[in-house]
Amino acid sequence: MKISERAKHIKASATLSISKKAKAMIRNGIDVINFGVGEPDFCTPQYIKNAGIKAINDNYTRYTESAGIPELRQAIADKLKRENNLNYEKENILVSSGAKHSILNILLTICDYQDEVIIPMPYWVSYTAQIEMVNAKPVILPTNENNNFEISPEQLDKTITSKTTALIINSPNNPTGTVYTQQRLEDIAEVAKKHKIYVISDEIYERLVYDDVKHFSIACCDGMEDLAIVINGVSKAFAMTGWRIGYAAAPMEIIKKAIQFQSHSTSCANSIAQKAAEIALSKEDNSVEKMRVEFEKRRNYLIKALNNIPNVYCNMTKGAFYAMPNISYYLKLNSKIKNSVDLCSYLLDKYKVALVPGIAFGVDNYVRFSYANSMENIKKGVERFADGLANLHKSKII
Ligand SMILES: Cc1ncc(COP(=O)(O)O)c(C=O)c1O
Repeated sequence: MKISERAKHIKASATLSISKKAKAMIRNGIDVINFGVGEPDFCTPQYIKNAGIKAINDNYTRYTESAGIPELRQAIADKLKRENNLNYEKENILVSSGAKHSILNILLTICDYQDEVIIPMPYWVSYTAQIEMVNAKPVILPTNENNNFEISPEQLDKTITSKTTALIINSPNNPTGTVYTQQRLEDIAEVAKKHKIYVISDEIYERLVYDDVKHFSIACCDGMEDLAIVINGVSKAFAMTGWRIGYAAAPMEIIKKAIQFQSHSTSCANSIAQKAAEIALSKEDNSVEKMRVEFEKRRNYLIKALNNIPNVYCNMTKGAFYAMPNISYYLKLNSKIKNSVDLCSYLLDKYKVALVPGIAFGVDNYVRFSYANSMENIKKGVERFADGLANLHKSKII
């Protein structure tokens, strides 16, 4: 059976496949603590659900404009002005079926065959896949915990070639939890301007920042109006992952073309979810802040507990809801556990704790925890993780 070269290269999202296995075990009655999930464990706030119910009852159930309904595009432009000090008109906004889909529409719009798109590593799994889907080439910039998982302007400058089209920056970061400082982003913007490359700034976790850290958008830097493409959405901040609403804000020429790609794939985002997202952004109550405070408590507990495990090292994260401890020590103890996938399979099968192997993000010496889970489960799950590592240490044979 013929399948395309493109299809031969594409792999299922490793984060989703671990989660799938863990969910299947849970369905079979096995008590698994799932640190694999990339979505808030809270329910969508009631005022947003009410807006969705009202949209259904008002028969708001037809195709919408491909770009998104004007009220939502305006609510997004207003939010970007109010919270990020960014000046966009509603015509600069594309509403898609999730931020993930906005990124794909943007890549389709700006990348030609074999163009290079730079991504810092560890990277979110879908960046490499999407870059390859549009026949462009991911170019990886490695980082590690010693440089706080941040790329430097010098490193970026050296990596840019005549084929470079864009850099993707994700702050707050999945999987590392790193939040770039304003100064570092300004320095990166200088390099982007020097070489005239786009910066796709994925800000989906912007509301989840801790320790009084402030989120800053690279689009705010002087001279970035024509180069910055802001990606965001309601999934993570408003616990709306299943509603599938995300957006891009960019120069009009780019948005116009991205709308055309969208019009030929999904036609438009879900009409009911668009109405709910409009209310989420324009009539916010304190539910987002409540969730943020809870995530911060969990982060404080988890990072400390991880660092108490012998030979595990984890940076204090500043945002998102992930922690990425270095577990390299435990990859040298047993002939059956040579990499992060082996370690995660062992921990899931024997200790009923689901983690994402670092290799899914390009780095084998780490595993990723999502603390979008109850405190009780986090406590139980870290104990299981520690027991699993300790037993690996004790026995040479599993
Ligand atoms: C870094 C990053 N960007 C984008 C997304 C996608 O968000 P959405 O649900 O809006 O498609 C995710 C989801 O896990 C993410 O981690």
